[in-house]
Amino acid sequence: RKRTAILISGSGSNMARLVEDMADKGHPAQPVLVVSNVPEAGGLAKARRLNVPTFVVDHRAHGGRAGFEAELDRVLRAARAEIVCLAGFMRVLSGDFVAGWEGRMLNIHPSLLPRHRGLDTHARALAEGDARHGCTVHEVTAALDDGPVLGQASLDVIPGETPEALAARVLRLEHRLYPAVLRRFAAGDTTPVLL
Ligand code: GAR
Repeated sequence: RKRTAILISGSGSNMARLVEDMADKGHPAQPVLVVSNVPEAGGLAKARRLNVPTFVVDHRAHGGRAGFEAELDRVLRAARAEIVCLAGFMRVLSGDFVAGWEGRMLNIHPSLLPRHRGLDTHARALAEGDARHGCTVHEVTAALDDGPVLGQASLDVIPGETPEALAARVLRLEHRLYPAVLRRFAAGDTTPVLL
């Protein structure tokens, strides 16, 4: 079973869904570590409740991005991670760091990439009058919110809905999409999952 680390910055609801799914017998991956760059992240308590070891690598405590990434890399290698899932991890990683994990690092992004890279994806989808919106899981490459798509889930935007309501509906899709993609990816299949 592929040793899987999950990187978070916040509430960790996607992380929890991944860990819960990996509890299934016969799952091709197992959770070995949850790392947060934010000491107060709510996801840390969730991970502990799910009996997954946790670690904090505070990005403010390592003298800049190079030091932060060196420590993150050390922690992931010490855990002998074979797959790294970014799940609401809100730091941009450098090309050098990403190169060391190429083909083994996944990210979930709350839009239908290549639309709406970056932040505030739900407000932007509404402002631009998108009829469809959703989420994407992709392999992480040096370019932000880019890299081979491993899965997408989409929904119809409801005219007049708030960004918060849309975000909540997309998050429910994320909770279905990410576990489905990780199962397939850990089994060596990179055919995109479409929900
Ligand atoms: C999710 O919607 C995820 O797609 C998004 O942050 C949220 C984290 O929620 N990620 C990004 O915006 C990455 N740039 P969670 O902590 O409850 O999983």
